[in-house]
Amino acid sequence: MPSDSAIAEVAFDAQAVRADFPILGEIVNGLPLVWLDSAATTQKPAVVLERLDHFYRHENSNIHRGAHELASRATDAYEQARTTAADFLGAGGREEIVFVRGTTEAINVVAHAWGRHHLGPGDEVLITWLEHHANIVPWQQLCQATGARLRVAPIDDSGQLVLEEYEQLLSERTRIVAFAHVSNVLGTILPAREMTELAHRHGAHVLIDGAQAVSHMPVDVTALDCDWYAFSGHKVFGPTGIGVLYGKLGMLNTMAPWQGGGSTIRDVTFERTLYKPPPSRLEPGTASIADAVALGAALDYLTAVGIDRVARHEQELVAHAGEALSAVPGLKLIGTAPEKAGVISFVLDGVAPSTIGRALDAEGIAVRAGHHCAQPTVRRFGHEATVRASLALYNTRQDIDALVAVIERLASRS
Ligand code: ALA
Repeated sequence: MPSDSAIAEVAFDAQAVRADFPILGEIVNGLPLVWLDSAATTQKPAVVLERLDHFYRHENSNIHRGAHELASRATDAYEQARTTAADFLGAGGREEIVFVRGTTEAINVVAHAWGRHHLGPGDEVLITWLEHHANIVPWQQLCQATGARLRVAPIDDSGQLVLEEYEQLLSERTRIVAFAHVSNVLGTILPAREMTELAHRHGAHVLIDGAQAVSHMPVDVTALDCDWYAFSGHKVFGPTGIGVLYGKLGMLNTMAPWQGGGSTIRDVTFERTLYKPPPSRLEPGTASIADAVALGAALDYLTAVGIDRVARHEQELVAHAGEALSAVPGLKLIGTAPEKAGVISFVLDGVAPSTIGRALDAEGIAVRAGHHCAQPTVRRFGHEATVRASLALYNTRQDIDALVAVIERLASRS
């Protein structure tokens, strides 16, 4: 009888998926590319490239303003992408989707357009020890501007949030809790639903940084009940320069325009400006129209492949990588939480992460080596840098085995 993993392998044809991604045929340093840097950015399937091409060949126009055919085509395509994003996230409606440049901008928009109007001295912002700098710095800036205080919920040695301590840090002073759905350094999946419920019990609002989650597992913002959810297009097989801020409509309505601009207004005189309702109020200037449209194609692609099947495939690869790497003498895995998605971080005795990164690159294998824009997380484990291999639906056991073979060779020499 085939094992569960064999069934999952049959059900998910990674080779067929790979054929959808033209760049995976590249030769790098004389060898076929092995892309294990998807947490930094994912590669793009042909349908996304073709959608961009189609837009610029057949639909290109500014949106929401022209009185001509191409303006209608472009507006329809852009607004269809908003509907696709709403469906992808399980949002209550398409007006809850704000297109932004990416996760960083989404978090900054909330900190500015909501935080600066709703926080004051004595209030608190709660984050966790697992945050990317993009989910630390905007809150530090907000606290400096308003007199609020930044609190940080700790993690344990496996990289899991210490839920009891998180709960103890919540109080009536907590105005907002902001946390990663999945850690970009360790791959830890945070208990987002439970954390949100606890925060709401104390009257705090919740923003979830979903940058490292949406390509790996199903996300349903209605089930999570978070107030905001952010992700970047380029980390979910779409273009750079486009991302999504989901917000409950009630919350978006409380957000002031964060930049004045053409698309945000209903009426302007020299004395005053009247603004449109969200999401337009929060989308100043000409949007990254083609990129939003292509992001819609990326989300459709992922939905067609099947996010549950992707999650199972990646879980098996993460387990395989964890097992194989932990058998390498002198190698230490950083982040061993039982619930992980897509990321394996490690250090090797006597070999700098940057040296490992270069050795892998020489064999066509792309990883990230460094602090991964999350210095407090990396330092929590006593390091300044790690090597990070990060996965996506197009990776295979062969990719992991190629990585492990180079690491074994380095370990035997060190
Ligand atoms: N946030 C991206 C990463 O983790 C760039 O690599």
